[in-house]
Amino acid sequence: MKNSRRKFLHHSGLAIAGSSLAFPHILSAKNWKVAPSDQVNVGLIGCRQRGFAVLKDHLTMPEVNCVAICDVDENVLNEKKAELKDKYNQDPKVYLDFRKLLEQKDIDAVIIGTPDHWHCLPSVYACQAGKDVYVEKPMANSIAECDLMVAAANKYNRIVQVGQQQRSGEVWNAAMKEIWSGKLGKLRRANIWANFNYGLGPKKVSDTPAPNGVDYDFWLGPAATLPFNDSRFHGSWRFFWDYGGGLMTDWGVHLIDMALWARKIETPPKSVLASGTHGEFSDRSTETFNTMSVLFPMEDDYLIQWEHTAGTQNGPYGRLYGIAFVGENGTLVADRRGWEIYPEWDNAKKANKIEESKFNSEANSTVLHAQDFVNCIKTREQPSCNAEVGRNVALYAHFANIALRSGAYKLNWDVGKGKFDHKAANKFITPKYRSPWELPKAV
Ligand SMILES: NC(=O)c1ccc[n+]([C@@H]2O[C@H](COP(=O)([O-])OP(=O)(O)OC[C@H]3O[C@@H](n4cnc5c(N)ncnc54)[C@H](O)[C@@H]3O)[C@@H](O)[C@H]2O)c1
Repeated sequence: MKNSRRKFLHHSGLAIAGSSLAFPHILSAKNWKVAPSDQVNVGLIGCRQRGFAVLKDHLTMPEVNCVAICDVDENVLNEKKAELKDKYNQDPKVYLDFRKLLEQKDIDAVIIGTPDHWHCLPSVYACQAGKDVYVEKPMANSIAECDLMVAAANKYNRIVQVGQQQRSGEVWNAAMKEIWSGKLGKLRRANIWANFNYGLGPKKVSDTPAPNGVDYDFWLGPAATLPFNDSRFHGSWRFFWDYGGGLMTDWGVHLIDMALWARKIETPPKSVLASGTHGEFSDRSTETFNTMSVLFPMEDDYLIQWEHTAGTQNGPYGRLYGIAFVGENGTLVADRRGWEIYPEWDNAKKANKIEESKFNSEANSTVLHAQDFVNCIKTREQPSCNAEVGRNVALYAHFANIALRSGAYKLNWDVGKGKFDHKAANKFITPKYRSPWELPKAV
C-alpha cells in the first residue's frame, strides 16, 4: 500500500493535533463522536446542482467534514455556504479559484461538480496536490483529457472515484450477479435507450451581460470566448460541444457502463457506427444531437446498441430509459429502480427456459457511491468506479459523438496509436485550450 494511513493523516492535518482550537471544524456537532484520525475533510469545486447533491451524500457520513467550497458564481457560493451552516453545521472556507482551494492543507479529498469541460484540470491539479478525487461523470469532455486524468491518478497514487453511481447501486449489482450466474445463458446484446424531454435543450434566448457575481471568463476557462448566453450556462451547457456532449455523454456513460460491466469489458471499442440528427427546433438552442443510434460491435458475439430521442419520454418495456440485456435464455430489462427477467420459450419442452424474476431497490446509489469513495480513501483500495473505468466508458460516448461530428459514421480505433482511421475524427481527440489555460502534455 503506497499511501499509508499515516500519510492520509498527515494530509488531513489531523495527526499532529486533535486540538479543536487548531481545527475548529472538529467541534461541529456532527463530528464530536468521531475520532480525529477517522475524519475525512472534503472540499467541493462546482457547487450548484450535482456537486452540492454529492457533497450532501458525503455529509450523511459522520466522519466527513466539508472544509472548503469553490465556485466561479458568487451567488451559488453564498447560497451553499449559508445552507451548509444552517442545515449541516459546516463552516467551510470559500474560494472563487479552485487552485487556491487546492492549497488548503487540511483537505483530504475534493468533489468536482463543475461542467464537463472543467473536470480535467481540477482533477489533475488535485492529484498533484495529494488530494483524492470524486469527479462527476462523464470523466471529461475529450479523449485526451480522460487519458491525462488516469495518468495523474496513477502517478500520484490518488483514489479517484468517477460519479457513475450505478456501479455502487443495489439494482445494478444484483443485475450483474444474475447475468454472471449464467442464468440468461450467453449474453448476446445490450440494447440501451435514453429518451428524455430535457434532451431537447434550453429555450433560445438573446445574449446578455453575465449576471453580477459570475466570473464568466473563468466559467469558460479553456473553452473558446463567446458572449454570455443563459442558454449555454448553468445546467444547459451540456448541449454545447465546448462544454458537454448532449444525451450521448450525459446518460451514455451511465448506461453503456452497465453493458460493459455485464461482460467485464475494460477496453475501448475497436469500432463504432453512429447515425443521427441534430434536428431543427426553432425555439431551442443546442449543438449536440437530438436523435442518435449507435452500434458497438464487440468481440465474442456481443453487440451494444444505443439510441436516444430527445424530447420524448417513452421507450421499450414502458421505460423512458433502460437496458435490455438479451441472453440466450431470457432478457433482463433494467433501469435504476429495478429489473425483471423475460424468459425465452422452449418449444421442445413447452416451457420457459428460465424462471421469471424481479428485483427492486429504493437504496440511494449515490450515497453508496460516496461511502465507497470515503472507505477507499481510508483503505487505499480501488473504488467501484475508478479512473480506468470512468475513462473507458467515456471513450465509448465520445467515439459515438465523434463518428457523427466528423461525418465518418463508422470509425475504427487503433488502441496502440490512440487514433482513429479517419483524419477529421482525429481532430476531436485533443481539445484546443484557450490561453492562459493549458492541457498538460504529461502529468
Ligand atoms: N452522476 C449523475 O447522476 C449526475 C447528475 C447530474 C449531473 N452530473 C454531472 O455533474 C456535473 C455538474 O452538473 P450540474 O448539472 O450540477 O451543472 P451546473 O451547471 O448546475 O453546476 C456547475 C457548477 O460549477 C460551477 N463552475 C463552473 N466552472 C467552475 C470552475 N472552474 N470552478 C468552480 N466552479 C465552477 C458553476 O458556476 C456551477 O455552479 C457535470 O459533469 C454533470 O455531467 C452527474
